[in-house]
Amino acid sequence: MCGIVAYIGEREAFPIIMKGLQRLEYRGYDSAGIALLNGDMTVYKKKGKVKELLDFARDKKTSGSIGMGHTRWATHGVPNDVNAHPHLSGDGRLSIIHNGIIENYNSLKAALVKLGHEFTSDTDTEVLIHLIEEAQRHDNLPIEEAVRVALTKVVGAYAIVVLDQDAPDRVVAARKGSPLVIGLGENEFFMASDASPLVEYTKEVIYLNDEEIAVIKRNGDLQIKTIDNKIQSPFIEKIDLKIERLEKGDFDSFMLKEIFEQPRTIQDCMRGRLSSKEGWVKVGGLEQVVDRVSAAQRFIIAACGTSWHAGLIGEYLFEELARIPVEVEYASELRYRNPIINETDVIIALSQSGETADTLAALETAKEKKALIYGVVNVVGSSIARVTDSGSYIHAGPEIGVASTKAFTGQVTLLTLMAIHLGYSKGTIPRSYYLQLLEELEQIPHKIEKILAKDKQIEAIASEIKDATNALYLGRGYNFPVALEGALKLKEISYIHAEGYPAAEMKHGPIALIDENMPVIVIATNKSAYEKIFSNVQEVKARKGKVIAIVSEGDKEIKAIADYCIEIPDTDEPLTPLLSVIPLQLLSYHIAIMRGCNVDQPRNLAKSVTVE
Ligand code: AGP
Ligand code: GLU
Repeated sequence: MCGIVAYIGEREAFPIIMKGLQRLEYRGYDSAGIALLNGDMTVYKKKGKVKELLDFARDKKTSGSIGMGHTRWATHGVPNDVNAHPHLSGDGRLSIIHNGIIENYNSLKAALVKLGHEFTSDTDTEVLIHLIEEAQRHDNLPIEEAVRVALTKVVGAYAIVVLDQDAPDRVVAARKGSPLVIGLGENEFFMASDASPLVEYTKEVIYLNDEEIAVIKRNGDLQIKTIDNKIQSPFIEKIDLKIERLEKGDFDSFMLKEIFEQPRTIQDCMRGRLSSKEGWVKVGGLEQVVDRVSAAQRFIIAACGTSWHAGLIGEYLFEELARIPVEVEYASELRYRNPIINETDVIIALSQSGETADTLAALETAKEKKALIYGVVNVVGSSIARVTDSGSYIHAGPEIGVASTKAFTGQVTLLTLMAIHLGYSKGTIPRSYYLQLLEELEQIPHKIEKILAKDKQIEAIASEIKDATNALYLGRGYNFPVALEGALKLKEISYIHAEGYPAAEMKHGPIALIDENMPVIVIATNKSAYEKIFSNVQEVKARKGKVIAIVSEGDKEIKAIADYCIEIPDTDEPLTPLLSVIPLQLLSYHIAIMRGCNVDQPRNLAKSVTVE
């Protein structure tokens, strides 16, 4: 939620910040704003997208080589110009941008009002800049010290950047619970919520840790302190992120680009991790903790949204192939229900962004209970990647479309590798099946290409159901989580209400909804339950539902009764989700485009949910 970017150096800050905000826009797009220090403090803010801010500021004064910008996902206060960041102190000499939530803003606000502070916005953030102003005014502190003192009074999560008109040679940044990375250039520094705004300027970065404050001066001085005033030595890391991966290329949207990238991203996820010819599979992070993982009594998978769906597939995989009991938890629920977790459990956190606040919070609980924490994450260097005991990156590259596609298949690929590895080493799958799975897995990218080649057919089906107001997704076994994922994709980007169900559950309730207007998307590739799912399709047809079936190549029976069929290549059942989800991603994409929706930035959503 919310992207922040800041610059201090010798160049004009405005174009650097605006470009950075465009890169970060996937994180929130309720409003955008910028502050520039050039003698005085210039602030422009606008409801809506970064483009609107750009149009508004274009012919205004934009000079200055210190500045910061914000793209908002509103938590406190409606999206409008006033609630947009940056927020100013009462005297207008300080400004702040903030990602996160100040949970005790109400009590802080009441105390500040008593001291004579007046507020113009409904945000929690404005309270923080007044608190900093109060600390500065009261004890005549330099800005970095005032920020530090103010932060000791704050409950909640933040990544902030603060500018002070009276200290025009420095920028102060701090974080707790929301990400902040500092890019080190030559005589210049960049700060941002993730590394994407920095890549064209530098490869050297410092990830700020929780409760750290950085003071960056124009003369090249960088100091990092903790909130309790201990000086830290900065740890400089190298990033490896290519600009092309942050751009749409020839595609109309990031989502479509990311769907079409999947043959390559899955290949990248498997690279160096298996060889069917030589008969091995290895997952680096797993090897580091193999003793504890092999001895685990139970896996608990914690995640949110699409990552949670990938986690459900993980449950099927680990239980079937490695005979390890698995529980899949919504991270937000795990933390607050006093869960039974102990030292012999392994918690697998699944997260594309590695910044999801609910997932991070669940990990804290698991850590307190001394379970081993394993992260399966996409964004390198992200918070979850750094708090886990061990883990694996899925190497999907930056995922910018808010609706997750390639990260989902990356997560499922990684979980599959882990399950095959554990199954074979525990002796719960025979060598012949192990080798067959490895061979099949290597074929998956090519098989996805074959499905992507059916894009036009899927688009034609989309045009038949685009006006529906509801849709049902049904699947069994490995395809049940795929049904959930298909329904979520449709909801998120086309705003059609959709539900996913285990196919057999339909008769226990949802069947009441079926009539000739209800599209029912049935994922019917399963070998083991084919007859059962065939009956489920009959049941839908008997009630005049419109059936769109995803079937295996060469299918005859379901094809004969379904209204529309999408045939996909056959594979071993545990690998099916990697194929069956692809047509569902394309179906949602085309329906959303036909309904005139913005697929990359659906309403009310943000890519990285850094608030609980
Ligand atoms: C997916 O399309 C969503 N936008 C959302 O459900 C997402 O998967 C969820 O917020 C979890 O994010 P994470 O993987 O970055 O932790
Ligand atoms: N809580 C702040 C607001 O609502 C910041 C939200 C964000 O992270 O974008 O303005």
